[in-house]
Amino acid sequence: METSRNNSGSIDRRRFLRVSAAAGAGMLVSSLESLATSTSVKKIKVAVIGCGSVSNMYLPQLLASEMIDVVSLCDIKYDRAVAQNKKYNVNAQTYLHIDKMLAGVPFDMMVTLTDMQVHEELNKKALLAGKHVWSEKPLANTYAAGKGLLDIANSRNLRLWGAPAVVNSPQFAYMSQIIRDGKLGLISSAHAQYGHTGPDWSAFFYEKGGGSMPDLGVYNMTTLTGLLGPARSVMAMLSIVKRERTVDDKGKINVEAEDNAHILIEHDNNVISHVMCGFNFFDPHGHTAGSQMLHSIQIFGDKGNIRLLGYDWETNGIMLETSETESPQLVCTDKGGYVWQEGAKVVGESMATGIEPKINVEHALHVLEIIEAAHRSQQEGKRIKLVSVFPYPVTA
Ligand SMILES: NC(=O)c1ccc[n+]([C@@H]2O[C@H](COP(=O)([O-])OP(=O)(O)OC[C@H]3O[C@@H](n4cnc5c(N)ncnc54)[C@H](O)[C@@H]3O)[C@@H](O)[C@H]2O)c1
Repeated sequence: METSRNNSGSIDRRRFLRVSAAAGAGMLVSSLESLATSTSVKKIKVAVIGCGSVSNMYLPQLLASEMIDVVSLCDIKYDRAVAQNKKYNVNAQTYLHIDKMLAGVPFDMMVTLTDMQVHEELNKKALLAGKHVWSEKPLANTYAAGKGLLDIANSRNLRLWGAPAVVNSPQFAYMSQIIRDGKLGLISSAHAQYGHTGPDWSAFFYEKGGGSMPDLGVYNMTTLTGLLGPARSVMAMLSIVKRERTVDDKGKINVEAEDNAHILIEHDNNVISHVMCGFNFFDPHGHTAGSQMLHSIQIFGDKGNIRLLGYDWETNGIMLETSETESPQLVCTDKGGYVWQEGAKVVGESMATGIEPKINVEHALHVLEIIEAAHRSQQEGKRIKLVSVFPYPVTA
């Protein structure tokens, strides 16, 4: 199960695809073409579960799509479902419980935006009820459970998708192309970081099953593996720096999940990357990082380096320096309409059109395996080998 590089140092994409196709063969069962055939005359009906903070980013995206109808909203804090229905003029049916929603107004795809720890249980219920699922990260609590969800989906001709959507940005595509063209020469190392001072609205971010890796590091892990290929092994050091927090929903809480994580990832051909994430990083930008010109991703080769300006979820351009250009050049500054919260809209539209999107669930599962391996590495003090692979997210 190895991928390889060609002589110029870029990843051998044909081999990457061949290897990952074997792992993703089950996906073919539920090809989008067949879904589109069955749904081409109607809009994709969407139900959103979890009407908290991030629903404010998702709902405008979903509502702006001509191919999507939001028909149901659900939250165990029922007033939130009602409030979002009114605020965004959704005109949906509102529910307190997933079981009632699954038995209520018919829909095609559930969009899961709840606390991280309950994604697995809710996604499973939706799949067993015959619904496609887009899930915020993580799509399950463990890699094995996530793989189990994919098996359910495949056996029922359903699609399962997982955030984040970073592979959709033009900057990701640009970096991927530069690497595949061999412009950076032989790649050896990469670094990515993402952090802020941590959410202050909900306790689940700091409870068991939460942490800075599934909330923040997940973006960097998706980007680095998407560019450099699957992780073969992982070593990590994780810690809790701030032991107590005060959050809106539960007041003062003890922090149980890591809020400081350094993860070393071994890719093929001895390439090593590093992800650093945490809930204790001063960050003046928050969710409005459109003007952030510091870099968060760096990739080093023996003929060139690239730095992603801004974040992989808010991409503001690429700084490129190669043996051909010598002085650093600012390139690829156009976001082309990409926004980080577009994932559910993009996959919903892909089901309506039958065109396969770049995002694929094997990649989300692979990142989940990295996160789990990082926890094991911290506990056992050793390098953890990984088994999963995924299809290359950018098609030529
Ligand atoms: N807030 C952001 O800016 C942001 C950005 C990107 C991704 N995310 C991800 O989105 C998810 C949600 O984050 P959030 O910040 O919106 O959290 P939040 O606490 O603001 O909202 C979560 C909502 O889910 C509801 N909920 C919990 N369990 C439920 C259940 N069983 N059934 C129905 N509703 C349930 C809660 O009542 C709450 O209203 C997380 O996975 C997070 O990592 C959040």
